Amino acid sequence: MSTEPRGHWKSRFGFILAAAGGAVGLGNIWRFPYIVGENGGSAFLIVYLLLILFLGLPVLIGEVLLGKASQRDPVGAFKELDHPKSPWQTIGFMGVLAAFVILSFYSVVAGWCIEFLWKAVSGAFGPGNSPDSVKQIFGELTGSPVLQSWYHGIFMVMTVGIVFAGVQKGLQRWCEILMPALLIILVLLMVFSLSQKGAGEGLKFLLKPDFSKLSPKVILDAMGQCFFSLSLGMGAMLTYGSYLRKEDGVVSAAAWVVAMDTAIALLAGFVIFPIVFSFNVEPGAGPGLVFVTLPAAFQQMPAGTIVSIGFFGLLLAAALTSAISLLEVITAYFVDEFKMPRHMASIMFGVVCFLIGVGCAYSDKYFGFLDNLASNYLLPLGALFISLFVGWKLKPEIAKAEFEGTVYARLFGIWLICVRVVAPVLIALVFLNATGLFAKLFGEGS
Ligand code: PFF
Repeated sequence: MSTEPRGHWKSRFGFILAAAGGAVGLGNIWRFPYIVGENGGSAFLIVYLLLILFLGLPVLIGEVLLGKASQRDPVGAFKELDHPKSPWQTIGFMGVLAAFVILSFYSVVAGWCIEFLWKAVSGAFGPGNSPDSVKQIFGELTGSPVLQSWYHGIFMVMTVGIVFAGVQKGLQRWCEILMPALLIILVLLMVFSLSQKGAGEGLKFLLKPDFSKLSPKVILDAMGQCFFSLSLGMGAMLTYGSYLRKEDGVVSAAAWVVAMDTAIALLAGFVIFPIVFSFNVEPGAGPGLVFVTLPAAFQQMPAGTIVSIGFFGLLLAAALTSAISLLEVITAYFVDEFKMPRHMASIMFGVVCFLIGVGCAYSDKYFGFLDNLASNYLLPLGALFISLFVGWKLKPEIAKAEFEGTVYARLFGIWLICVRVVAPVLIALVFLNATGLFAKLFGEGS
């Protein structure tokens, strides 16, 4: 066991804000709308919401529980709760690997936010500018690997700086201001967006079910987005849970985190799609969707410059709190398992992620590969094994104690079924189906 004294959140509320801050990020505002757009809208959305409820929430409770019960990092947790040579610790290694992969490309997109914040400050998104100028700004940025690497580097320095400072000081203070501010600006943007001509088309795209668009890929993408958005399946939430005190309840905290994360993603959807349809943008435009639609909308607002500064400032801050939680997974692992000094670990692995990420500035294919590897493979696999461990290996009394005496007491049985059976079977099926393995194994077309 680590002999260093472990920091704790000051309260359960502190945990909720920090964990929600880690969960809410580019995944909600950048990734969610473009994945929804690529997968045809409403059918994706329904699958996503069902997965959040029956997969995301139960696995999140399980993951936080593992952290709280073990008070360790994602590898140490399995040693502590099983035995020092436990094969389950592979889950932790996979999580650390996923953190490296995600942080590497995440930081590149966060770098785009820095450029857009900069442009916002210089008035490029104020009234009187044309939507073509936005496309040009985005095109120039993504066409310049050097510029992107530069911003990617700046973002990484910011992330390392905060992790360097330690858990409570670094994380908690940010999220207390960030979350409410982000909610307010998104609600304001939604009001604007819904008042645009063509907004109805956007709403129809999101809300009118069209199940002909359902496919194995839509479901795999929805599952990947569910884990990515909730930071699940890689030990990030386990690490947050490990800073919980005995008296802090896990179940309602997890429910709050899920509610906030989903609310912010949905809000982002209701901001983006009415604009997409009013401004005639292709919903399946891919990773650039948010960056080319929103600034064009800001240009139509009377206070466009201020709103755009607020939006990109907050988006950058949200990206930062998520990046911190990614680097925290890596750092906590090397500090706890190898007794590496915290400062050294955060700098060293920040540099490693920077180097892995630079490739994204040069190749979209490499970027897509890293994202797909992490979101659609590493995270679901991690979540699969986490639910198996929590469901079948962890003493049920430990989990039961978290439900008993709370308003969630009656849900314990349902939760246990979810982590024992529903989650593992669902993940395995979606996974086998989408990768074509299902068809190979059982000789059916998918
Ligand atoms: N959940 C974050 C987002 O939605 O932006 C991304 C993320 C952070 C994924 C931390 C995984 C993680 F461990």
